[in-house]
Amino acid sequence: MKVRVGFVGAGGIAKVHMKLLAENENVRLTAVTDVASSAADHAASLYGMKPYADYREMLEQESIDALFICVPPFAHGQLELDALERGIHLFVEKPVGLDMDTVNRIAEKISESQVITSTGYCLRYQEGIAQAKEYLQDKTIAMVRGHYLTRFVETPWWREQEKSGGQLVEQATHTLDLIRYLAGDIRNVYAHMALRVFHDVPGLDIPDVGSINLLMESGAVGHLDTSFTQLDHRTGIEILGRDFRVEISGGTVAIVEKERTIIYKSTTDMYKAQDDAFIQAVLTGNRGLVLAPYEEAAKTLQVTLAANESALSDRVVHV
Ligand SMILES: NC(=O)c1ccc[n+]([C@@H]2O[C@H](COP(=O)([O-])OP(=O)(O)OC[C@H]3O[C@@H](n4cnc5c(N)ncnc54)[C@H](O)[C@@H]3O)[C@@H](O)[C@H]2O)c1
Repeated sequence: MKVRVGFVGAGGIAKVHMKLLAENENVRLTAVTDVASSAADHAASLYGMKPYADYREMLEQESIDALFICVPPFAHGQLELDALERGIHLFVEKPVGLDMDTVNRIAEKISESQVITSTGYCLRYQEGIAQAKEYLQDKTIAMVRGHYLTRFVETPWWREQEKSGGQLVEQATHTLDLIRYLAGDIRNVYAHMALRVFHDVPGLDIPDVGSINLLMESGAVGHLDTSFTQLDHRTGIEILGRDFRVEISGGTVAIVEKERTIIYKSTTDMYKAQDDAFIQAVLTGNRGLVLAPYEEAAKTLQVTLAANESALSDRVVHV
């Protein structure tokens, strides 16, 4: 049996998934829809999918087992609810929305259904992360330090707070999610964000710098710095405890102790691992293969929205 896959959204990240899924012998790429019909047509012609102008029509006409929702943050909501009505398994790109009420409603519907979900938190599948998670399992974490320092993203919707939620919600969410995955839930946040240097970009109203203090449920303290003022791209996390640290820098994970350092360098494609895991989960019903189901992505979103709220109100916000 092949998993019949449909796509809503045929932009940058959808193309990555399509290419990887086309290589998976258990997948039949079936149908694609995008509000930009040229994007749907182009993807359809590349992978032999049927293009649709409207996602409702696509869901009506096609038998789809799994739907990849690859739309910008502001476009989530009804799509997921309509697909859930039909019992379609869902892969939802991060962030899974911008409105917590809608996201919670979707999460509730998912929990009442048999639907298998996965989300685009691909870093959870990076080589060495499983070992780091296991290593940290019985450790007392003292402190977490994260950063996501990168370039400006040209995509038009990205610069608008209403559409993207800003850099933390849309982008540095990857780092925050990995912090949650490895170091546990976050109790509260206190954030400062500012638009310091990108005043000249028309229509841009998102902060270009952010500094977010985190208090973890465990009692560990931490922070995450975000910025898109740079020429290059640097991301990383350090998780510190007594006489050890786990250090993630781009694609390299290191466990550093007094007498030894273990280094894992990524040699495989984490997006492929993520997509294959979801397809295998759909085929076998083994949900455990998915490392970031919808409810996990919802929790990460909640923390990033809490940080936005904290930056606006200048208050500590409980998650
Ligand atoms: N997991 C990752 O590493 C990763 C990488 C890149 C992007 N993303 C996420 O994927 C999402 C999309 O990003 P992108 O870079 O592909 O953006 P994009 O702008 O390249 O593509 C988005 C596509 O969605 C279409 N679209 C918009 N609203 C729609 C709607 N209501 N119905 C159907 N189609 C609609 C647009 O026309 C566009 O073709 C974002 O949330 C982004 O954060 C994740």
